[in-house]
Amino acid sequence: MKKETLIIRIDPATMEEQLKRPAEMLAAGKTVAFPTETVYGLGANALSESAVCAIYVAKGRPSDNPLIVHIARLGMLDELAEEIRPYAKVLMEAFWPGPITFVVRKKAHVSDLVTGGLETVGVRMPSHPVALKLIDLSGVPVAAPSANLSGKPSPTDVKYVLQDMSGRVDCIVDGGDCEVGLESTVLDVTGDVPVILRPGKITREMIMECVGACEVDPALDYKTQHDLVPKSPGMKYRHYAPDAKVSVYLGDRMTVIKKFYNIILETIESGKSIGVMIFEEDALVLDKLLDGAPVYRRLSDRVHIMKEGSAKELDTLARNLFKDLRKLDELSVDVVLVHGVSENALGHAIMNRLEKASEGRVFKI
Ligand code: TXA
Ligand code: MG
Repeated sequence: MKKETLIIRIDPATMEEQLKRPAEMLAAGKTVAFPTETVYGLGANALSESAVCAIYVAKGRPSDNPLIVHIARLGMLDELAEEIRPYAKVLMEAFWPGPITFVVRKKAHVSDLVTGGLETVGVRMPSHPVALKLIDLSGVPVAAPSANLSGKPSPTDVKYVLQDMSGRVDCIVDGGDCEVGLESTVLDVTGDVPVILRPGKITREMIMECVGACEVDPALDYKTQHDLVPKSPGMKYRHYAPDAKVSVYLGDRMTVIKKFYNIILETIESGKSIGVMIFEEDALVLDKLLDGAPVYRRLSDRVHIMKEGSAKELDTLARNLFKDLRKLDELSVDVVLVHGVSENALGHAIMNRLEKASEGRVFKI
């Protein structure tokens, strides 16, 4: 059944006033999509089973996939979690509010509908001022997956929230673009050592520096053959995948650029169109090569080059990744080429999402 969706465009000067209505809606069991610093979330009162059900319906999401519960103050954690390990408290102190979710042992009253039947619950205190204020005003913990239809890339721009969720949720709060662009780091802190279940902006290096140790769920490693099942149920789905066939290439800069050049010419000659996600400095070189090719000069409208900032800072690539995959889908390209990055720091999260978007088509050349 189609819902009437209230759309609220936030003006920072009147934010608090504007958020009263959506906060009341959350408290009353309605669904509200809202911006966070990572991606847009699709929120509902985590303590109401019927409200949580409405999230699954709106997303068309499998119900064994647990939801992250968002809080606005540390005090709200006590309602949800059993005792927290000392090192986990240190990490919360260091990184909250911010783009990291802690998986902790849940209190008995936290519904299986939120946790997907697990004994743990994922909790996050977002740093986006709209998210923090909205949760605070609602007075309830807010369960929120990313605000995309299941199987689509997470929305980092309200345009895609409107596209996926209009008529499916009660309210959409427009707070502009998301700064980080990739979903939060999911960190299991139930054991002696923290374990990354989903890489994100808060990196393994940052966690190690803070508490001296950090492991990564071995099931996340796509480079070795294994039958391990990821500990974070959401990681096993074909998430983040656009309609186009995505391939990721890793290697020496000029080798990758030349490879892209060859694939571009082959693709457009065969009547197809192509999108390329590449660093600015490499785009300049690629442009020069293409300009010398008569085929390209004739068929350049079949080529869409997305510049992803400099290779020296990966923040821009992270921020644009999902948005540009969506844009290329809108342009109905058949093929997408992406210049991969090495898997340290933020590169770990970027390659994790790219591996999924490409369904494993990651080539080292
Ligand atoms: O940045 C984010 O985390 C965004 C914003 C809205 O906060 N939310 C988000 O939610 O990405 P979602 O539902 O799309 O992804 C949640 C991920 C899934 O991979 C899920 O399996 C994992 O977190 N997760 C949640 N609770 C868990 C738990 N108790 N144990 C293991 N993994 C859990
Ligand atoms: Mg998601």
